[in-house]
Amino acid sequence: MSELIGLPIDRVDGRLKVTGGATYSAEYYLPRMVYGVIVVSTIAKGRIKNLDTLRAGRSNGVVGIMTYKNSMSLHFPQSSDPGGGKYGEKDLLPLQNDRVFYDGQAIAVVMAETFEQAEYAASLVKVDYDEEKPVYDLEKNKENSYKPMSGLGGSPTQVSRGDAASAMPAAQVKQEQTYTTPVFHHNAMEPHATTAFWNGEEVTFYDSTQSVAGSKSLMANMLGVVPDKVKVVSLFIGGGFGSKGFSWPNTVLTAMASKLVNRPVKLVLSRQQMFTNAGRRSQTIQKVGLGADSTGKLSAIQHETTSESSFVDEFVEPAGVATPMLYSCPNVDVVAKLVRLNKITPCPMRAPGEAVGTYALEVALDELAYQLKMDPVQLRLLNYADMEEQKKKQFSSKNLKECYQRGADSIGWTARNATPGSVKDGNFLIGYGMATATYPANRSASTAKATIFADGHAEIECATQDIGTGTYTVMTQVAADALGLPIDKIKVKLGDSSYPKGANSGGSQVTASVGPAIWAACLGAVNMAAKMAAGDSASPLHGYKEEDITAANGGIILKSNTSRGERYATLLGRNNTPKIEALAKTNVSTRDQQAEPAPAPRGSPEAKAEDQSKNNPAVQQDEQVDRKPYAFHSFGAQFVRVSVDAQLGKVKVDKAVAVMDVGKIQNLKTATNQIMGGMIFGIGMALMEETAYDPNNGRVVTRDLAQYLVPVNADMPEFDVQFIDEPDPYISPLGARGIGEIGITGMAAAINNAIFNATGKRVRDLPVTLDKLI
Ligand code: MOS
Repeated sequence: MSELIGLPIDRVDGRLKVTGGATYSAEYYLPRMVYGVIVVSTIAKGRIKNLDTLRAGRSNGVVGIMTYKNSMSLHFPQSSDPGGGKYGEKDLLPLQNDRVFYDGQAIAVVMAETFEQAEYAASLVKVDYDEEKPVYDLEKNKENSYKPMSGLGGSPTQVSRGDAASAMPAAQVKQEQTYTTPVFHHNAMEPHATTAFWNGEEVTFYDSTQSVAGSKSLMANMLGVVPDKVKVVSLFIGGGFGSKGFSWPNTVLTAMASKLVNRPVKLVLSRQQMFTNAGRRSQTIQKVGLGADSTGKLSAIQHETTSESSFVDEFVEPAGVATPMLYSCPNVDVVAKLVRLNKITPCPMRAPGEAVGTYALEVALDELAYQLKMDPVQLRLLNYADMEEQKKKQFSSKNLKECYQRGADSIGWTARNATPGSVKDGNFLIGYGMATATYPANRSASTAKATIFADGHAEIECATQDIGTGTYTVMTQVAADALGLPIDKIKVKLGDSSYPKGANSGGSQVTASVGPAIWAACLGAVNMAAKMAAGDSASPLHGYKEEDITAANGGIILKSNTSRGERYATLLGRNNTPKIEALAKTNVSTRDQQAEPAPAPRGSPEAKAEDQSKNNPAVQQDEQVDRKPYAFHSFGAQFVRVSVDAQLGKVKVDKAVAVMDVGKIQNLKTATNQIMGGMIFGIGMALMEETAYDPNNGRVVTRDLAQYLVPVNADMPEFDVQFIDEPDPYISPLGARGIGEIGITGMAAAINNAIFNATGKRVRDLPVTLDKLI
């Protein structure tokens, strides 16, 4: 049955994208639509004393100006179910009062007939403030930290086993260092963009979001509208990386503005506003302590992270999240501390926790390897975790040793000289480094609908979304295999909240969550077709049992005699049936903390799906797998070779290898693309990216991509991305774990370790820019 899954087929939406046929949220042109531009604060703390909109209001084309004085009241966003949408700052709903909590906060929206008119008029809004003294420096305020009890989704933030505090001083060999990472910004190529309009009490959003379903319930909540009257559409998304996982002011402001002027409104964040109005990754200060015996066996790991939150919500960058499970060690202590600052609230950013956390941990291990005069791969093998020691569970599947081996072979690890600074190539110092990559294998409940039409094509509907990763393509492959249809007979419809609810695009979970739901919905439809054929005296399958019938060749066939069967078109045509429709809900979670999902509303697609799923063998089999004994994680090994200009300190990554153990690959091309994208993210993190704040006033200084540097083509190394490609036997019938985020984890450490190998200089403060090297 599995013929298409795994193949490196081209993106099914590729042609639309390269020809401009894919409509993004900022590309809807509605009758009477006006353009909204956000005015932002220029102080980091205080109150608005006076907002003078007189000149702006008289400017050409202006149709309205919305401030806290004339905007509608919003409801406090109740965060109910985990996929239910999260507003970035629960205590700072936009335009509700005169208070300013950070630089760049949205304080007004100007609407005009054209974008240029709105932009110009926005520049004419005059604001007087009662300025107060902000706090914005993490380092200077770290004494004011507190320990948050839990993080996102109720995850534990303070985790320990054994007694690291006693084991550490007793260790024969010790490494204790502090690693720091700056504020990063997601900077998706497509900015946050919303087009919204009201039709009576109904409101529709074209919104760039990582969760159409979550955004729908959140907007209903905040606007005080029943969920049935809210529709969120996000057909194409130009990247999210976490900042579109939460909802930020732009989305709700667009609906508020539309209500105010009674016209459709389009509102797109400028690149500058992407640095102040859509989350960020927190700065971190991480103290890592490693204790080992003289052979290198770990006896203690301490990982204390101080990160930032704001005064208007709480977000914990869970840098220590992988530390208790990555290596075998009896004594582990993970501590998280938070400092509230006058900055926008941080949020998840691609591999939240793991990206910055594995940087610190994996550099610390490299330092320990040097101290022990030991090969860094050997050190990791010596401390290999055969089981998840914190939760005392087996891994559902783990092939990390093979990743190390293949990665080492592919980079040519034997060419590495352990003595730093010993390998030269002309002006360049050559170095090799490696690190372990890891990310949890998340799966959550998903619903999908499969419809087979009498003309022989099929459609899939699911309220999940393709954020640019290839979800349309992968789900087409899954459906085609389940239905026995070729790719071009499948139409996958995503990105519309009116479809059955699918997973949000967060935590690398869509393929693992939505894939099985689509698979089951398709098998449900095949089952219905089989029943119809079995009961139809004109069918070649008349009289056979459903369980003896399977999908293939554009229809259904007998398992024991594959030449006996018929096409869907023949079956449906003969029976005068326009379509067969099946809904399925796979209620499976691999997470420890899972809020009880709210019961699906009566008559909703989810409720119908729950009902149908009781008789769907695919769902029943999937849900009956006992997952409690297992810990679900993906792993990988990353190896890099760098050359460092001995005079200028300029670093170039020459080659980057990743060998990933992420379950069964659903599409080799999009999977490779995801890992490569993550690695590029990691190159940026290691060498370039850093949001700078003005030390005098807490304002963001780097507000565009000329100042906030990201890797470009000229920075690309030779990539070598490989997969173990072994199905995870417990995660789902498809055996696929997510791959969206693991590519970045380990990367910054591998580069950092290679730079040390090349130069003998250890930089513990990211990014490793040339000024820190010379
Ligand atoms: Mo990802 S940072 O969970 O969108």
